[in-house]
Amino acid sequence: MTAKTRDLPIGVFDSGVGGLTVLKALRERLPRESLVYLGDTARLPYGTKSAAAVSHYAVQATHALVATGIKALVVADNTSSAHALETLRAEFRGLPVIGVIEPGAAAAGHASAAGRIAVIATESTVQAGTYPRAVLHSRPGAQVLSQACPLFVSMVEEGMVDGPIAEQIARHYLASLFLDPPQQQRYDCLLLGCTHFPALEPMLRRILGPDVAIVDSATTSASAVEDLLVHRRLATHRDQGSVRYMATDAPERFARVAGVFVSWPLTAAEVELIDIG
Ligand code: DGL
Repeated sequence: MTAKTRDLPIGVFDSGVGGLTVLKALRERLPRESLVYLGDTARLPYGTKSAAAVSHYAVQATHALVATGIKALVVADNTSSAHALETLRAEFRGLPVIGVIEPGAAAAGHASAAGRIAVIATESTVQAGTYPRAVLHSRPGAQVLSQACPLFVSMVEEGMVDGPIAEQIARHYLASLFLDPPQQQRYDCLLLGCTHFPALEPMLRRILGPDVAIVDSATTSASAVEDLLVHRRLATHRDQGSVRYMATDAPERFARVAGVFVSWPLTAAEVELIDIG
């Protein structure tokens, strides 16, 4: 691997701003790597769209990132990871492509003591069935159920990550999995299968108590990316990486909502507006 390829950035793709949870995890884990983030804010949300539409958008976004010069692609968007990973790997041969589902599912398989794992995600991710398949692959015999939590996405984008309304909605989604059934029928692991859900983790922890393992696919994916870079000898030798942000619409909203997901300041001027469709 040439030094030139090693020093290229990693492309990170999401339907919008939520994938910044994955970008943040990558920054923490791989501070030397440069990252180029593309949020397809013009077509957000993906979580209510068909498999065909999501795959089509994911291919277009990947073309745009490849055109900037990347050494690997991280599909931060769970919905695209659920529907489009194989399409992307077939279409962009030679480009290492990592989705968030396999790493998250493997981590949940390890974290669950009783093998009773509930995945929460968007409607479209749930319909794909990719998370349960991946969990069963890593933990054969596990009992897996996935549940759509569509209101969580807009709640988080509104900054409603706690408080009475957020808690009531969370209890509504979690009741039949964790709160109402008798102890032995409850799930013992919650897998956060959507970019936005890590922002809700403190509230979910409080509701579920200490006995439920909560697994976040963003952080587990960052360590999978690190493994990939090491195995393919793609890790940069530079000291400090940079981040470039691109969006397909509304840089002002991108910069504002980013504050929910990352701790560093971001202004609209730092977000490049691009056309990919
Ligand atoms: N990024 C999406 C996901 O992880 C959530 C937002 C959307 O529906 O586009 O599934």
